[in-house]
Amino acid sequence: MLKVGHRGASGIAPENTKAAFLKSIKLGLDMVELDIQLTKDNNLIVFHDYDLKRIAGLDEKISNMTLIELKEIDIGSWFSDEFSDERILTLKEVINLLKDKMKINIEIKINQQKSEIIMAKLLDILKEEEYEEGVIISSFDHRILKLIKRKNYSLRTAVLIGALPVNPIRLIQEAEADGIHPHYLTVNRALVEEVKDYGYFINTWTVNSKEEVDRLVKLGVDGIMSDYPELF
Ligand code: G3P
Ligand code: MG
Repeated sequence: MLKVGHRGASGIAPENTKAAFLKSIKLGLDMVELDIQLTKDNNLIVFHDYDLKRIAGLDEKISNMTLIELKEIDIGSWFSDEFSDERILTLKEVINLLKDKMKINIEIKINQQKSEIIMAKLLDILKEEEYEEGVIISSFDHRILKLIKRKNYSLRTAVLIGALPVNPIRLIQEAEADGIHPHYLTVNRALVEEVKDYGYFINTWTVNSKEEVDRLVKLGVDGIMSDYPELF
């Protein structure tokens, strides 16, 4: 079973930072989940929120800022003073940090207007870095997953879901995906069995209690994402 650090090891270091990713490596996780977005000047960066309020106390949208502007911002102090040097990373920087050491789940944050640019940039970066095998691309935007699959069939994709759909298999098939990433509260035995019977994988998020980790391991999920690597 894949042990996945959600936004890096985000319970013990600020999310989506170099510190969080390095801790994930050190703690022996198999994979990290991270979130990507596009800057105003069309760079793919690793950041979860659409704005800088929660992380940096700034009333600015990510999509309205350039990479140079974003690189100025301290994204670690909100978590703890010891992380005040942490800066937003580009996807390329993170891939270079991790590619020989662990797998990556790249979650594309929804941006309907810019989805073509995001897809093109993402495919270019993965090709340039020769890093495709260890990657799962996921999104709540299932349309972009289908477009990606049609451009590069060998890339693995997974549909993200927050609530259980009537027909999860149809959802995977419609997106032409390889697997499903459901919220852990939606995961039950019937779902795991059905997904696996069809030959798809199932990785679940974000599991922050030992009881839930144990329950999901027993059900036979393929991977669990947690903010707290010690739960594994
Ligand atoms: O990829 C799983 C999970 O990260 C989805 O939700 O909001 O934490 O990015 P969120
Ligand atoms: Mg995410």
